[in-house]
Amino acid sequence: MKYPLTRSIFFTGFMASGKSRIGSLTATSLGWKFYDTDRLIEEKTGQSIPDIFAQQGEAAFRKLEVEVLREICGGAPMVASLGGGTLLNPEALELVRQHGALVGLRAKPEVILERVNRKKDSRPLLAGLDDEAKLAKIRAMLEERKPVYDLSDLQFESEENIPHHVITRRIIHRLQVEAMDPLWVELGERRYPIFIEEDLSDHADSIAEKMDCSPPYVIVSDQPVKSAQGAMLERLHHSLKGAPTFYWKGGETEKNLASIQKLLTWMLRQGCSRKTTLVAVGGGVVGDMAGFAASIFLRGIQFIQVPTTLLSMIDSSVGGKTGVNHPLGKNLIGAFHQPRAVIVSLATLSTLPREEFLAGLGEAAKYAFIHGRSETGKGLLAWLESNAKALLAQDPIALKHLVRVSCAIKAEVVGNDEREMAEGGRAILNYGHTFGHAFEYLAGYTMPHGLAVALGMRCAAHLAVRLGMLTAEEETRHNALLDALELPRTFEGTYHEEKAWEATGRDKKADTGKRVFILPQGLGEVKTVVNPPKAEVLAAFRTVVRGMA
Ligand SMILES: NC(=O)c1ccc[n+]([C@@H]2O[C@H](COP(=O)([O-])OP(=O)(O)OC[C@H]3O[C@@H](n4cnc5c(N)ncnc54)[C@H](O)[C@@H]3O)[C@@H](O)[C@H]2O)c1
Ligand SMILES: [Zn+2]
Repeated sequence: MKYPLTRSIFFTGFMASGKSRIGSLTATSLGWKFYDTDRLIEEKTGQSIPDIFAQQGEAAFRKLEVEVLREICGGAPMVASLGGGTLLNPEALELVRQHGALVGLRAKPEVILERVNRKKDSRPLLAGLDDEAKLAKIRAMLEERKPVYDLSDLQFESEENIPHHVITRRIIHRLQVEAMDPLWVELGERRYPIFIEEDLSDHADSIAEKMDCSPPYVIVSDQPVKSAQGAMLERLHHSLKGAPTFYWKGGETEKNLASIQKLLTWMLRQGCSRKTTLVAVGGGVVGDMAGFAASIFLRGIQFIQVPTTLLSMIDSSVGGKTGVNHPLGKNLIGAFHQPRAVIVSLATLSTLPREEFLAGLGEAAKYAFIHGRSETGKGLLAWLESNAKALLAQDPIALKHLVRVSCAIKAEVVGNDEREMAEGGRAILNYGHTFGHAFEYLAGYTMPHGLAVALGMRCAAHLAVRLGMLTAEEETRHNALLDALELPRTFEGTYHEEKAWEATGRDKKADTGKRVFILPQGLGEVKTVVNPPKAEVLAAFRTVVRGMA
């Protein structure tokens, strides 16, 4: 898959941050022209930059910068290195924004000083100062210009010990990834892309390489995925340079430390090192376990998620929660470990058992209920209502939209509260889960999680009506969407009121003795409600229990 770069690239950064060198290397690699705006100005005026500053002042110099920028922006895509202060001028910034991508290069103040002194070049802004004063001035100027450098589309550190050609390759790779227009999970330095296409299994290596994941690779999956998606795994294996593959048997009952131990042993025997990249191919069980193994193998290695169930595409592969179950409860052992990339091939869903597919739709409906009024989730509820049939028929265009919007919502919620610490943060993802977990428990964990959550959302909506947070009409619309997505209306297992009540108090995320419910406050927004009256909670349960409603 080739994503040719078609727009100009502008390098910005402080003096001596490596802009010219890296800029010209980038241009050479792409076969484009390279311009250094400072040099162009010198050529145009026949004067050196310090002379222009001294004789005409900074304002005149900034004007000259815009002139030369206009000239070079007029032609074919090119690479330009901008002066340290060029973007302070809004006119220059506007030109750059219109014509290409802005790459910011950073370097530590000490590194800058060292480079300036080494070159003995006459930087006008530092002229006549001793080292200490220079360093203070560099710091002050960096601080002053930070807001402008922060406007960059991409930022890279030009460190002393990384060769310029390596930084150049990284920059080109990253620009190619941007050109593929993935969805980004914004987590600062650990920011990572989610690629969503019909079938990406032949392109895993090129994506991995662009995200700085190098071979050797190992693939981790499970037997049902192998049986259903053997051809896809085969293509992935070839794409990933013949990566060896480990298979678990598959299923929630295997999600434990013993299974992790098996994988770790296999990886050690394969000679995996800290440089190995683990590629997890499967549903949430494989993703959670493989991600956890990656977080502890040799104190942590890189991993890539290739989710193959709808639930894992829209939920578990995003956010970095990894782990296993403990005999005393689900997902009690684990770590936060973010993948380097998520690669979604929608075609894999064609072999997914129907129930598992519906379970994923349940979690998708959840996003509309918890985030439907935000910028990202706006319109999702109505869209789901009109596209339920297309989704059930696995229409690829509808699926792509659903996965993208769902991931965007989850990414936004997670990006604002990675470790589930904030009030009203990541915890809102547990909408329908307090009731849902109770159903899973009552059914002896034989019910797909997403289906239990769908029942849980019906209960939560009803509890909200009883507590005056939702109108009866809203509850009807809420449940009609779940109906349209063919999600269950009743709990088919054996219902036991006291056990159900007890189970709602066993949430590992709540303080002891507290019952925490995420309830809709109208449609599209949720609120945390602590310890609602038992009678109301039980009444909510009854709405989905057969013969009791
Ligand atoms: N990390 C998180 O943030 C997070 C969020 C939600 C859920 N989870 C976890 O995810 C797990 C549930 O994930 P799941 O619903 O994907 O279940 P799963 O991984 O068990 O997959 C369901 C079944 O489908 C099979 N399968 C997977 N892809 C297939 C395909 N394309 N064709 C045919 N069969 C296929 C699997 O082998 C498995 O048997 C739970 O353990 C849950 O705790 C984690
Ligand atoms: Zn869930």
